Amino acid sequence: MATEACLNTDWAVVTGASKGLGAAIAKHLAAGHGVGRPVRGLILVARSRDALEKLQVELDSIARTSGREPLAIRIVDADLSDPQKGVATVLAGAEGLEVTLLINCAGLAASCSNFEDTAEAQLQKEMAVNVLTPMYLTRSLLPGMIQRGGTVLNIASVAALLPAPYMATYGASKAWILSWSLALSRELRSTPVKVTCFCPGHFHSDFDNAAPGSAERAITKSWALTERNVDKVAKSALKCTRRGRRWGTNGWINWLNLMTSGMLPLRLILAIAAKLQWVRQCRW
Ligand SMILES: NC(=O)c1ccc[n+]([C@@H]2O[C@H](COP(=O)([O-])OP(=O)(O)OC[C@H]3O[C@@H](n4cnc5c(N)ncnc54)[C@H](OP(=O)(O)O)[C@@H]3O)[C@@H](O)[C@H]2O)c1
Repeated sequence: MATEACLNTDWAVVTGASKGLGAAIAKHLAAGHGVGRPVRGLILVARSRDALEKLQVELDSIARTSGREPLAIRIVDADLSDPQKGVATVLAGAEGLEVTLLINCAGLAASCSNFEDTAEAQLQKEMAVNVLTPMYLTRSLLPGMIQRGGTVLNIASVAALLPAPYMATYGASKAWILSWSLALSRELRSTPVKVTCFCPGHFHSDFDNAAPGSAERAITKSWALTERNVDKVAKSALKCTRRGRRWGTNGWINWLNLMTSGMLPLRLILAIAAKLQWVRQCRW
């Protein structure tokens, strides 16, 4: 396994790295396909230490076979639904390292159902992981990044641009991330920090198992609207960031949806969005 090679510069923090999009992004970074200069080290953040340890072995082998400089990896198991404690744990894991890339990817949907049926505790977790933790983590790492240069990649969703009935809070949390990222990108214009917000459409991952009801949504079952390959989504997110775009999405269907949605009456957009998110227990 790679050691830290005494190099404390050019580290990346990836939250939600244990599976899905975060793990796929980490694999690209390990292969040296990042958002610019290859990172020297990765800080992998999630709750599942076992999954992170498995990924560490895989990333080490990807780094060695890709012929790049040795890659150092640190694992941080942190529950980001407690923002203060979670962020403090990540910062302790990054102690002594110069982080130049922050990828806020951890995220969840509390449920796919009528809003009033969703447990308050789940809604609280959803807002903490999707909104508060990225905000506090970025707030903590930004001063150092402004000094040495860096990039923030925030993962939102197409739900940031189109409301998502039956996943109303999830959509609103992603709209928050998008709005915040766009504003920050302007605010940081005169600094060496770039901010990108990537808004993928639905893709296959554990997300559908983690969110009650998600697997039964029309959008999950509808092959034409669904990206099956998480690796492609990761590639698009990194490409969008590398190009210095303020925001982006993947796939022509998502582009078409987003570009044409402004031309349709809101009532129709909401009806289509509701149909795509609808599952049996929901009111119609
Ligand atoms: N899948 C989609 O269709 C889709 C579409 C648009 C946007 N997105 C967004 O893409 C991002 C990645 O989602 P994904 O589809 O890859 O989902 P996933 O496979 O369920 O992965 C979610 C990641 O977030 C981490 N996470 C969840 N709750 C956490 C907590 N309390 N503390 C720390 N880490 C936590 C998970 O790690 P542990 O469970 O190990 O903690 C996991 O690594 C999310 O922000 C999601 O909103 C997904």
